[in-house]
Amino acid sequence: MCGIVGYVGPKRAEEILLSGLARLEYRGYDSAGVALLTPNGLRLIRQVGKISNLAQAVQEAGITGNLGIGHTRWATHGLPTEENAHPHCDCTGKIALVHNGIIENHRELREELLSRGHRFRSQTDTEVLVHLVEEEYRGDLVEAVRRAVARAVGAYAIAVVHVDHPQEIVAARLGSPLVAAATPDEGFLASDVPALLPYARAFYFLEEGEVAQILPGGLRVWDRHGRPKEVRLREVPWDPLSAEKAGFRHFMEKEIHEQPRAIADTLRSELSTPWEEGLSGLDLSPVEHICLVACGTSYHAALVAEYLWEPLLGLPVSAEIASEFRYKNPAVGEKTLVVAVSQSGETIDTLMAVRGAKAKGAQVIGVVNVVGSALAREAHAVFYTRAGLEIGVAATKTFTAQIAALELLGLWLARARGLLREEELRQAKERLSRAPRLVEEVLELAPQIEALAQKFYTYPNFLYLGRGLLYPLALEGALKLKEISYIHAEGYAAGEMKHGPIALIHEAMPVVVLYSAQELPEKVLSNMQEVRARRGILLVLADHVNPEVEELADHLLRLPPSSRELLPFTFTPALQLFAYHVARLKGTDVDQPRNLAKTVTVE
Ligand code: G6P
Repeated sequence: MCGIVGYVGPKRAEEILLSGLARLEYRGYDSAGVALLTPNGLRLIRQVGKISNLAQAVQEAGITGNLGIGHTRWATHGLPTEENAHPHCDCTGKIALVHNGIIENHRELREELLSRGHRFRSQTDTEVLVHLVEEEYRGDLVEAVRRAVARAVGAYAIAVVHVDHPQEIVAARLGSPLVAAATPDEGFLASDVPALLPYARAFYFLEEGEVAQILPGGLRVWDRHGRPKEVRLREVPWDPLSAEKAGFRHFMEKEIHEQPRAIADTLRSELSTPWEEGLSGLDLSPVEHICLVACGTSYHAALVAEYLWEPLLGLPVSAEIASEFRYKNPAVGEKTLVVAVSQSGETIDTLMAVRGAKAKGAQVIGVVNVVGSALAREAHAVFYTRAGLEIGVAATKTFTAQIAALELLGLWLARARGLLREEELRQAKERLSRAPRLVEEVLELAPQIEALAQKFYTYPNFLYLGRGLLYPLALEGALKLKEISYIHAEGYAAGEMKHGPIALIHEAMPVVVLYSAQELPEKVLSNMQEVRARRGILLVLADHVNPEVEELADHLLRLPPSSRELLPFTFTPALQLFAYHVARLKGTDVDQPRNLAKTVTVE
C-alpha cells in the first residue's frame, strides 16, 4: 500500500508533505519519511511509527525546502525500521525516491547492481529503483526514470527528486495509483486525492505506464510509449472540511453518522443519470450470469447483492472474493456481466479480476466511491457511490452506500431485462428511499448500543449468526469487531452452526444473532434454542420481537421493522456502533487499526 506526496513551489515543502502524509496515513502507518532539497543538498528524515513522530523529527531538525517528497509505509519487504523507511537514496546521495507497490524482480536487480558496485542500505525491494535511476541518469531525470522503470517487473508508483533538478519531481506509475495537480506557481503529487484537497480541486490521474514531470505551475506527461500527452485535469467535488471530525471522537463514529446522507446522495444520483443512460455503455442481451467481485467489506456488499439479485433477475448471480476468482480460471466470457465493487477503485485483487474477465470478453460495471480511480476508468460502465471521503480504515458509510447503489443497480438491470414495468420500478425506488430515515432511527439507539458494548467488551471471542440477507451482515458485523477491537469474531450462516461452530459454545461465549421477521424467523429461533441449550450468551438484534425471542435472548436490541430489501439499513448501523463502542472501550486505535490499510494495492 503506502502513501506518496510530492511538492514543488514557493511554500515550505515540509509542511505540505507532512499534512499530505497525515491525510494518507490510512494507506499504511508503520514508518514514514521525507526528502527535502535544502541549500545544503538533499536532507532525509525518516522515523518508525506514525506521521506525528516524523513531524516532530522534522521540527527538531529545523530544516526547510521548496522541493520534497514524502512517504508513509505499510511494510511488504523488510521490517518497519528507519533504514527500510522511504525515501531511499542512490550511492551519491543526490537522488531520492519513494515507492508504493512491489518490485517482483528485485532480487535479480539487486544482485546485478551489487556486482556493479552499488551499495544497498535497506532490505526493501524499492531500493533497487533508486540505484537503477542512478545508473540511467545522464542529465535528464525524466529519461533516467523512464529507463529505470522499464527494467522493473511488478507494481509501482514512484516519485523521484535530484539535487541538480531543484524545480522538478518525476513520477511514474504502473499498478499503483498517483494523482498530480498544479496551481499557477506550484506542483503537487500524491497517491490519492485527499492528500491534496486543501491545495487543489482539479487533478490529473496518471494512467498505467505513464511518466510525469511535476513543475511549479505545470505538469508534463508521457504515455507508456514515451509520447507526450495532453494533460486534462478533472474536478473533484470533495469538501476538505469533511476530512475533519466535526465533534465526533473518531472518524469512524462520524462516518457511521454520515450514513443517512451517503445513502440518500447515492440513491439521488439517479436524478442526474436515469437507468437507460447509466447502462448505456453495455449490451445486456447476451448476459446469462452475473459475477460480483470484491474484497473485504465490499465483498460483503457484493454478497448482499447476490441474495437480492438472483430472485429479482432470475439469473445465476454469485459474489466472488476477487483474490480467489482471478486465479481459479473462472468460466466467464461474453455471456458474463461482472460487477466489481470497490470503495477505492484501486484494490489490486479486484482490478486484476476485472482485467482477467475483460480479457475473456466479459462486460464490467464498476461500483466505486473514488472518482477517477483505476476501476472507474477500466469498467465499461460506472455506478458511483456518493459516500464522500471515508477516512476510518474500517469501512462504514461506504458499505451501506454500496448496498444502496447495488439495490438500485439491481432494479435497473431488472428494468432493462423487461422484468419490471416503469411503474413497478418507481414503486421499488420509493420503498428504497426509506433507507436513510431507517438508518437515522437506528443511530438514535446509540446509547443502548453503547450500554451493550459496556457489558461485552471484555469477552475474547464472538460468534455472529444470520440467515439469508442477514448472513452477509453477520459476516460484516464480525469483520468490523475483529478489525477495530482485535477481538476474535466469526460470522456464520446460522444453519451452518451445527456443522462446527456449535463446538465453541459454552457459558462465556457471546453469540450475536440477527433476527428478522423477513428471513426465516422460525429457523433462526431454533438456532437460538441450540445456543441456549449449550448455555451460550445470546445477544439478539431483532426487528420483530415475540415472546419466544424475548424469553430466549439474554440481551435484546429492538430494531425498527422494515421490508426485506431494507434489512441492511437497520442491522448494519447497529453492528457498526456495537463494534465501535467495544473498540473505544478497549482503547484500541479505532481509525487506524494495527496492520490494516484502507487501500490495498498489493496482492
Ligand atoms: C481493505 C480495507 C477494507 C476494504 C477492502 C477492500 O482491506 O481495510 O475496509 O473493504 O480493503 O477495499 P475496496 O477499496 O476495494 O472497497
